[in-house]
Amino acid sequence: MTGTAAVDTVHVDLGSRAYDVRIGRGLIARAGDKIAPLLRRRRVTVVTDATVGPLHLDALRQGLGGIEMTALTLPAGEATKGWPEFTRTVEWLLAEKVERKDIVIAFGGGVIGDLVGFAAAVLRRGVRFVQIPTTLLAQVDSSVGGKTGINSTHGKNLIGAFHQPSLVLADIDVMDTLPARDFLAGYGEVVKYGLLGDATFFDWLEVNGPTLARGDKALRQQAVSHSVSMKARIVERDETEEGDRALLNLGHTFCHALESATGYSDRLLHGEGVAIGCALAFELSARLGLLSQETPGRVRAHLRAMGMKTDLSDIPGDLPDADALMSLMAQDKKVQDGRLRFILARDIGEAFVTDDVPPDLVKALLTEALSLRHG
Ligand code: NAD
Ligand code: GLY
Repeated sequence: MTGTAAVDTVHVDLGSRAYDVRIGRGLIARAGDKIAPLLRRRRVTVVTDATVGPLHLDALRQGLGGIEMTALTLPAGEATKGWPEFTRTVEWLLAEKVERKDIVIAFGGGVIGDLVGFAAAVLRRGVRFVQIPTTLLAQVDSSVGGKTGINSTHGKNLIGAFHQPSLVLADIDVMDTLPARDFLAGYGEVVKYGLLGDATFFDWLEVNGPTLARGDKALRQQAVSHSVSMKARIVERDETEEGDRALLNLGHTFCHALESATGYSDRLLHGEGVAIGCALAFELSARLGLLSQETPGRVRAHLRAMGMKTDLSDIPGDLPDADALMSLMAQDKKVQDGRLRFILARDIGEAFVTDDVPPDLVKALLTEALSLRHG
């Protein structure tokens, strides 16, 4: 882990679509300085949500200095990430007369970032946008890499486009107002990076995770910067997920089925589903003889120590049976030629992609995990 400078910059080197991710404290207060060089005219449109807006929009307006700003506030929560609010956003941007050379700002968590990025991708066949992520999940994952989109009744994130932002400003201070549950959900994605590709980072998280969760800013910045640089290197190798980028989906095959089964509701936040999904992926890997029986226990012990959801029994309310969960998994974008793709691991930090997993084994794992809910 590198030390913490005032502002860390991670460059995402994608040729003509390259951009910087700036990570540090007080960035919203200086947003105008960072965004002004991108502007052809001193005017931006901002889309936020009903929680972030009242808390932070005035600070952004001030931080933009002399740049004129108009804002649209959408309802908060995953249900916003669908056609109705997407259509509303696109129509609002058109009513605001946003032009090809303008900048749209996504100011919120992953829901706002994904929806606004997709709106920017299709508006006038593509306008530039800036991500100002306000949750831990959005800072370490969704604001970087250009995956944008909305949910369908057929499943999560099934409608979308690759559209890279022109700049990402990850202000560590904005997370001061984030509820502990949302912070920990985002931490699920942070742990994911250690588990998929960096055992040393996982060791570091085992030591520093609890302090970081309690609010230590320097540790938070280190964790965000390290996660973003890991993601940047993967996205540079494989922007459109032909290969390596699928590693970022560790835990997601299980997670998306669980999110669908819980109706994308408050019962299970995305990052919580990722954490449970990672624990299941490591358990599945152990059952396939890929790693030692102790390793899934170590993963679960860290999630537990952080006070995170770790098992299916941590999800309140009823869940469908293993067959129904398997059908929900089959709707996942990662299905290829009817075969489910899983991200498994040979050790902590050594994940790989495979479609060679016997469905019976997955079903047995889920049946057992579900039975523990009642046991
Ligand atoms: P979110 O955007 O719903 O934010 C969580 C909650 O926190 C919301 O209620 C929001 O209003 C509130 N909030 C946001 N910032 C706050 C702040 N600073 N203070 C107080 N409250 C704040 O959810 P999320 O967890 O940020 O993102 C989840 C979404 O991200 C999912 O839709 C998921 O599919 C998507 N995602 C996308 C990618 C990608 O690569 N595009 C990667 C991971 C996740
Ligand atoms: N969050 C997965 C990806 O960006 O590919």
